[in-house]
Amino acid sequence: MTKLRATITGIGAYVPEYILTNDELSKLVDTSDEWIMTRIGIKERRIIKEKEEGSSFVGTGAVKQLLEKTNTSPDEVDLLICATVTPDHQFPATANIISDKVGIKNAFSFDLTAGCSGFLYALNTASKFIETDSHKKVIVVGAEKMSSIVDYQDRATCPIFGDGAGAVLLEPTTEDIGIIDSKLQVDGVGRVHLYQKAGGSVKPSSYDTIDAKEHYIYQEGQPVFKWAVSKMADVSVEMMEKHGITPETLAWLVPHQANMRIIEATANRMGIKKEQVMINIQRYGNTTAATLPLCLWEWEDKLKKGDNVILATFGAGFTWGAIYIKWGYNGKNVKK
Ligand code: UT7
Repeated sequence: MTKLRATITGIGAYVPEYILTNDELSKLVDTSDEWIMTRIGIKERRIIKEKEEGSSFVGTGAVKQLLEKTNTSPDEVDLLICATVTPDHQFPATANIISDKVGIKNAFSFDLTAGCSGFLYALNTASKFIETDSHKKVIVVGAEKMSSIVDYQDRATCPIFGDGAGAVLLEPTTEDIGIIDSKLQVDGVGRVHLYQKAGGSVKPSSYDTIDAKEHYIYQEGQPVFKWAVSKMADVSVEMMEKHGITPETLAWLVPHQANMRIIEATANRMGIKKEQVMINIQRYGNTTAATLPLCLWEWEDKLKKGDNVILATFGAGFTWGAIYIKWGYNGKNVKK
């Protein structure tokens, strides 16, 4: 039997309208545009201001655009996986809510959580349903309302995160394109450095947990930074070497957008130029599971069939990994 691969055949995204600038943040906490730009590289981020809207709000926007752009009827979709750390509710899954909101009825859907590596984990998982020929049209969406767990009195975390969503459609191909290889990893020792202390089964919500601000993101920036720099670069270089990809033959690195310095360190280790790296951290900040599809969405018209593309992430868990894709279509032919 001919080997089936999963290939991305379309990209959609949605970012909220409200722009939270560094100057506005400087009025909330003791920080400055200069500090945030030098240490993180973020100028502004998008925030969901609509009342009683969660991650499914942006996720639905991204999936709707994806369906329209790819001329796909909701009935044709077999599976939808939503990567998120900020689900609308503990249950049901945000994937179920997005599916309902866009009219997907002939499918199953579930959420997947792997911190900032969620999209990569979900893409890898989705590709297996295609490769085994059990599912033909699979949507992977990364959707986050990070602002719902950010403490806007904590200057160490509040400049970093933003809200948004991106989605891709995966379909089978027998051509020499698509998801070629992936390496995903975890090391649970890192779980103490980046997590949400309360609200789960270990520490259910109570007045005490609220008083102690334990529902917000807790991050020890420096250990996370050190691990991110080494692990994201290691796995990306390993992927290049394994597939004989050189800096000259790599078209694009699509890195998780957590910190400009982490992105630059990864690119340096890979020996590639900044022009080969998709970077939009300045405008959207760290949207956790949505950073990678937001990059692909913005760069879609520059992507060409056969391009060697490496996606790389690092996040809470710790989780990290890289996926090597031979890009499947000429983005400039896609209707806007
Ligand atoms: O996506 C999930 C994975 N997450 C990451 O990859 C994040 C990795 N970590 C980082 O990106 C960086 O560690 C941060 C951006 C979080 C922090 O940058 P840093 O260069 O590690 O700063 P730091 O925590 O060592 O703080 C340096 C100084 C401290 O002051 P002192 O003790 O030197 O006087 C902080 O209090 O900067 C201070 N500081 C700030 N100053 C102005 C911390 N946050 C701010 C701020 N504005 N927003």
